[in-house]
Amino acid sequence: MSKTVLITGTSSGIGEATGKYFLQRGWNVSATMRAPIKAGDWTKTEKVICPRLDVTSSETIEIAVHETIMRFGRIDALVNNAGYALMGPLEGVMPEQLERQFQTNVFGLASTIQKVLPVMHRQGQGTIINVASIGGRLAFPLASSYHATKWAVEGLSESLRYELRRFNILVKIIEPGGIKTNFINHGSAWANHPNYADLVERVKQFSAGLNDSLPGPEGVARTIYRAANDRSQRLRYSPHGEAFLLMYKILPDSLWRSLVTRMMFGSKKQ
Ligand SMILES: NC(=O)c1ccc[n+]([C@@H]2O[C@H](COP(=O)([O-])OP(=O)(O)OC[C@H]3O[C@@H](n4cnc5c(N)ncnc54)[C@H](OP(=O)(O)O)[C@@H]3O)[C@@H](O)[C@H]2O)c1
Repeated sequence: MSKTVLITGTSSGIGEATGKYFLQRGWNVSATMRAPIKAGDWTKTEKVICPRLDVTSSETIEIAVHETIMRFGRIDALVNNAGYALMGPLEGVMPEQLERQFQTNVFGLASTIQKVLPVMHRQGQGTIINVASIGGRLAFPLASSYHATKWAVEGLSESLRYELRRFNILVKIIEPGGIKTNFINHGSAWANHPNYADLVERVKQFSAGLNDSLPGPEGVARTIYRAANDRSQRLRYSPHGEAFLLMYKILPDSLWRSLVTRMMFGSKKQ
């Protein structure tokens, strides 16, 4: 019997590439998205369904899980991929912007896990794959809100693995480095504050220039597939992010800080 994956946020980027890759490998795919009208041609096969799922609406999560079970009978892997970045200085972030950032990247992910777990308990096995970021292990300037959510995903996932091990349900964290998707230029939201206008401008220029040089999402999709099939206790996988994580680990803090400042602000001092 084919295995089934439920993925959040498959309208573009890493989610879409992951759906396509699992499909190519013979899995059934519940390619959820908040606007199924965006579903690409790759979904037009009987092995794929596209339930509407907005991670900020627990009702849509529940219905999407139900539709998946009705169609495929099981969920072997859940890929919590939906997310976006709220960028900009914390001083300029509106409370509702911060709430939305957490509702999407953290509470939505937690809620989706809660709705899928009863299915995995019934099956006696499953794998939960949470897409965090290298930004869940280190931090760049003007992204405090986003980093706060991805660090939260790291902590949630690492703790959860202990709870679920006795049920044969594995937890995996995917920590991509920079990937060319809608994420950097169109998928992010910005907060502003006059005290930081020059820095915001520099980071926006840096990001716009960066996107074209980044790898596409296919490598991340392959890593997610590998994680879904890896029954070992390995927790973290960092496609296109390992070099950054290694530098962060081995460089003295002062050197790391000056590299990041130079890279993003174009000078040693801001
Ligand atoms: N690209 C990178 O450099 C990078 C690096 C590290 C980690 N990541 C992480 O990778 C994940 C995927 O991002 P991506 O790079 O593939 O960007 P993307 O192309 O912008 O895709 C983001 C996906 O999330 C969906 N989404 C946003 N809010 C949602 C909600 N409330 N409910 C359901 N779906 C929602 C979007 O759907 P709509 O089409 O409806 O907006 C879209 O399908 C994110 O968690 C991101 O933090 C990305």
